[in-house]
Amino acid sequence: MQSIETIAFKKGALHLIDQRKLPGHYEIFVCSDYRDVEFAIRDMVVRGAPAIGATAAYGVYLAARDLSTLEGEAFLRELKKACDVLEATRPTAVNLRWAIRRMYTLADKESAKGSRSVTERLKKEADLIHAEDIETNHRMAEYGVELVPEGARILTHCNTGALATAGWGTALGVIRQAYSRDKSIFVYADETRPRLQGARLTAWELVQEGIPAKLIPDNAAAFLMQQGKIDIVMVGADRIATNGDTSNKIGTYMLSICAKEHGIPFYIVAPVSTIDFEISSGSQIPIEERSAEEVTHIGGVQIAPETVDVYNPAFDVTPGAHISAIITDRGILRPPYAEAMKVLQEELR
Ligand code: MRU
Repeated sequence: MQSIETIAFKKGALHLIDQRKLPGHYEIFVCSDYRDVEFAIRDMVVRGAPAIGATAAYGVYLAARDLSTLEGEAFLRELKKACDVLEATRPTAVNLRWAIRRMYTLADKESAKGSRSVTERLKKEADLIHAEDIETNHRMAEYGVELVPEGARILTHCNTGALATAGWGTALGVIRQAYSRDKSIFVYADETRPRLQGARLTAWELVQEGIPAKLIPDNAAAFLMQQGKIDIVMVGADRIATNGDTSNKIGTYMLSICAKEHGIPFYIVAPVSTIDFEISSGSQIPIEERSAEEVTHIGGVQIAPETVDVYNPAFDVTPGAHISAIITDRGILRPPYAEAMKVLQEELR
């Protein structure tokens, strides 16, 4: 299987596959400082919850590198400002906050050793976050593959593959695993309006690997379920509350309602870094709103009247009650989620 290097730190800079350009062009976007990283996350050069977490970790390192002429309180104060800038880029995916806090906490703890030493340590930590994410994905894939029946026809939404992570993928990682184990599977990939992550990115990954699949318009999903053509739904997550409520790409909630109506298992695949142990319900998840142009234009071509008002939420929240299981890198969580999360949190302490 071809490896997709979504994020790579080389020659003193962060190299990202420019996901805005796929599938037409394969280009690398180079970030030389943390402001480049801020732009890359905000403009969705890189996207997907785990991928933006790992990218932001390198962003914190790049900020520290530029601040390492400062020492002590001044170094930490300026580093914190850079962390806040990075954290404000995309509000829903909690992996971003998780990675930035992990980096800043380390800098704070080690600050007595001097800013050059802290900066070197931060580079190692960013490399670790990157490597851990790939390993985490493989662990989830191992757990998740057990839930994929032989011959399964799987519906997925958005892009949850190698491009959405440091490598391999979450929901698409499970699908990859099933395929690499010679399970006979078939994937239906939603195009995922308005940014078309399904059509542009998931379809690109599926085609690259030769996984049998069809791309479908988002609004065809319920019809396929009604026709008995979907056996399971498998999607990723951007933030999970401790009651199991899960935010993911807009349209996921709609799929969960349809799956419930048709008695189809609905699975979330996400690392524990996507669980926000600070919130007990999905109503506390901040939902990112993106530009009107994402809806009024397709591929730069205007398709709606210029003056029309637009509402463009990028994520929605699927109630835990609609979710059959949450596949994490620490095992499979089953309802009631509040209890399963308590046990998991204890294990993580
Ligand atoms: O707006 P995006 O493309 O960053 O949204 C991505 C998703 O919603 C994914 O499903 C989610 O991050 C899980 S991917 C591993």
